[in-house]
Amino acid sequence: MCGIIGISSHKSVSGNIISSLKKLEYRGYDSAGLATLYNGEINEVKSKGRVDELEQNFNLKDLKGNVGIGHVRWATHGIPNSVNAHPHSSENVSIVHNGIIENSTILKKFLINKGHKFKSQTDTEVIVHLITENLKELELEGAITKTLKQLHGSFALGIVFKDLPDLIVGARRGSPLAVGYGPNENYLGSDSYALKSMTNKISYLEDGEFCIIKKDHVSFFNDEGKKINKKILELSSNEKVYDKGDFKHFMAKEIEEQPITLKTGIKEYVDSINEDINIINFPWNINDIKSITLVGCGTAYHSCLMAKYWFEELTSLDVNIDIASEFRYRKNRFKSENLYIFVSQSGETADTYAALDLCKKNNMKTCAVVNVIESSIARDANFVLPIHCGPEIGVASTKAFLGQILILYILSLKLGYLKKDIKTEDYKKKIKELKNLPKLVEQTLLIDNEIQAISSTFNEAKGSMFLGRGFSFPIALEGALKLKELSYVHAEGYPAGEMKHGPLALIEEGMPVVVLAPRDNYYKKTISNMQEVIARGARVLLITNKSKDEVFSENVWEKIEVENTNDDLLPFLLTIPLQKLAYYSALKMGYDIDKPRNLAKSVTVE
Ligand code: G6P
Repeated sequence: MCGIIGISSHKSVSGNIISSLKKLEYRGYDSAGLATLYNGEINEVKSKGRVDELEQNFNLKDLKGNVGIGHVRWATHGIPNSVNAHPHSSENVSIVHNGIIENSTILKKFLINKGHKFKSQTDTEVIVHLITENLKELELEGAITKTLKQLHGSFALGIVFKDLPDLIVGARRGSPLAVGYGPNENYLGSDSYALKSMTNKISYLEDGEFCIIKKDHVSFFNDEGKKINKKILELSSNEKVYDKGDFKHFMAKEIEEQPITLKTGIKEYVDSINEDINIINFPWNINDIKSITLVGCGTAYHSCLMAKYWFEELTSLDVNIDIASEFRYRKNRFKSENLYIFVSQSGETADTYAALDLCKKNNMKTCAVVNVIESSIARDANFVLPIHCGPEIGVASTKAFLGQILILYILSLKLGYLKKDIKTEDYKKKIKELKNLPKLVEQTLLIDNEIQAISSTFNEAKGSMFLGRGFSFPIALEGALKLKELSYVHAEGYPAGEMKHGPLALIEEGMPVVVLAPRDNYYKKTISNMQEVIARGARVLLITNKSKDEVFSENVWEKIEVENTNDDLLPFLLTIPLQKLAYYSALKMGYDIDKPRNLAKSVTVE
């Protein structure tokens, strides 16, 4: 999704802007651009496609200037082309923008009546002209304050001015924005990850605030244009360079890293000696929590659904789950005895953040399960449970999913134990089995050959289905999501028991159907549902766990067996073949696996 970078320095900035934009590439985007101030002019270059294309199309070494802004754009208003790419500039002002301006149509009419000429189809261009207009009668701080008040919607902005050649203005409402401090230069970035190679000293803008960044000084203002002070935070600087290593794609690497993700999570939260779970500084009395609501988007929502099964199995808590974009606009009955858990890899997803913000404004108990601990969601929740899986670059989430469900499983076990819903011996047994999980995932990861052979059937079909019951249902949804994200083939996840109520009509001769049927409580029921789709011509790929008992697999097209463990932990193992299936299908099609078309890693617009 869109990313912003801005640098005000004592030396030329275009090289560092380009390398920072490359750091933002993982977010997913379709065009890129930058603007510098030099010799009393705004120099703007932008093009459709990747930052590499921008470098090929323009001689960026000649793009001089000690102050500049850069952007990677993920199209919302207007198709991805060079005209709609950011920055957008008038004669005096140049802007990069993340977010959506909801009243852009009305503002555009107003500005056209004032004589402003528009070049693009974007909502962003209205901001350029609005500031230009307001600067006719107000000094900088006043013009920015007035402009921000006129805008509806969400934004993170980086702005430079032809007549103010030493500064960048940054402003935030809804979309995150960070300021970084360096030697003889200061920075603006849509996330701290983009700034980390230059500095570990960061301040975050809050909603409504703006800042003026000069090479040797940064000032901050509230939404009334009054100066405010900001804390400077020091980020951990021990982050290693994260690259693909010997893997062809980040996704392949991230799939293989899952045993490490699990080991790290278990090490962090499990006390092996006492066979106990440590959730340090949990801020509430367990008796004050009667119910839980889990909220997320995309894969993180599937983690919430998975957790619902575990929380219901292991605790007496009532459990609700919600997709963040639905939660934030529904009439929620906020309850003080409810714990609201927000699940997010990036910690920046706009809808998830807005849902958290809503809970905060209603004084609810909030907990975040996140990967990026410097993120907005992590900063704003009452309590944070980091998943510690390291950077995830592939747009399609893999190791973060396993990391999220691990933490949620650990939390459900602990709360079940504290609430005396599970017996001590069962609790200890489950912890013991959990410690073995990374090894089992490692063994399950060795199924490449089997999966590779099967994967092209999924590309060649018109569509496919992923079925599961109970603990396997959320994994079926996640498997279908992975396949559609990466291979662009239609894939639907369904509870196997629901097929008769409609989806069975889609089954035709040769349609590939993945059936998740581990030997758990649902096994026999799922196998019956499997026979129903086989009887209608489906080619069934059965995924189950290894067992002494022969699986009833008559007429099954292919069978894959994952390792064996207790019912709670089987979802972790069932996920692996589905991630690999999606990966190999996309690989055969030659698609851009780490950056699937139209998708973004960090979705900072609603
Ligand atoms: C995007 C990503 C998904 C991710 C979802 C939620 O759509 O492509 O992989 O699951 O956002 O992201 P979050 O960072 O909140 O987990």
